[in-house]
Amino acid sequence: MLSIGVVGLGVMGQRMLARLAGHARLRVTRVWDENPEVLRQVLAHYPLLRAATSAEALIREPGLHGLYIATPPGPHIALSQQALDAGLAVLCEKPLTTDFDAARECIARIERERQRAAVNYSLASSTGLAQLQLAFGAASRRPLGALASVGIELRFAAWPRPWQAGAGPWLSQRAEGGFSREVLSHFIFVLQRVLGPARVTRSEVVYPDDGVGSETSLEAELVASGVPVTISAGIGGERADDNRMIWRASEGEIELRDWFGVTQQRQGERVQSLGDAETLRMNGMTDQLAHWAAMLEGRSHSLPGFAEALAVQATIESLLKYTPAP
Ligand SMILES: NC(=O)c1ccc[n+]([C@@H]2O[C@H](COP(=O)([O-])OP(=O)(O)OC[C@H]3O[C@@H](n4cnc5c(N)ncnc54)[C@H](O)[C@@H]3O)[C@@H](O)[C@H]2O)c1
Repeated sequence: MLSIGVVGLGVMGQRMLARLAGHARLRVTRVWDENPEVLRQVLAHYPLLRAATSAEALIREPGLHGLYIATPPGPHIALSQQALDAGLAVLCEKPLTTDFDAARECIARIERERQRAAVNYSLASSTGLAQLQLAFGAASRRPLGALASVGIELRFAAWPRPWQAGAGPWLSQRAEGGFSREVLSHFIFVLQRVLGPARVTRSEVVYPDDGVGSETSLEAELVASGVPVTISAGIGGERADDNRMIWRASEGEIELRDWFGVTQQRQGERVQSLGDAETLRMNGMTDQLAHWAAMLEGRSHSLPGFAEALAVQATIESLLKYTPAP
């Protein structure tokens, strides 16, 4: 058994507790949230869990192998640094940070000390990404021909989405939240994992007039490995979380829809589903936990490291702050 401490027990922390319940290798043993009411509710739901008295105390707890951080982005790097000091392997939620300098220092340390640290971009373990690597990755034999374009389309009936509506106000504020950091980042991760760094060539972002609220629309163009990428994202439509990424090539295309949900490939006239939605989702989750266990044991894994996650965030922040060259 690999013993994990969890800091941050809001919407995502609790989702992860549910995902880990009954896992054969990974067991959450200690939890902490700075909100006592949240902590009380989680302990009531999971009576076998034990609470720490602070994040620092949790990190120093003997017998822990790893820390999972599911707080809002602000404390991610400081908590990661403390965990690395204690020799723990870290799985941190995205976005990695609000402070790029602190994140770069942490990355340099991870590399210097060969520490174990990863960021939770869950599409890292998806069938869709594996298929994209086969079709368009560095070692691909190009079964679908030359890649011509990538399109990302996101629509949200409301922001935050209903399942995350209980999260703190940070999620709908432009300082730390918004759908670009929260959702678009997953697709930028997939894009950059397959093609390498993307460069923003145009980005138009609309914010509410209150000076505080996060973006309501983002329309942008990028280039990655010479391939044009378009993004159309915004609040609107009837579906809570409508997402689609389409990779068009000279002899076919691959489409990812609804996260792990629908992944299909067209090769010439032949359209092929890569699995039913539930199987794709379950396989993705199972693989993710297996890779996490590998990271905890110091074995090789496919979870994104902190440097890869910061590169994703750099692209997201350039989309949000883009100003055209004069
Ligand atoms: N990978 C994914 O698919 C995914 C999905 C949703 C959210 N997230 C990420 O997970 C993180 C948390 O999101 P959420 O929706 O759960 O937010 P949330 O507001 O619901 O929960 C955050 C919790 O962290 C606690 N907290 C804040 N600062 C703390 C600290 N210093 N020490 C201990 N507890 C602290 C808060 O009290 C709260 O309970 C964010 O970074 C978010 O972007 C990732």
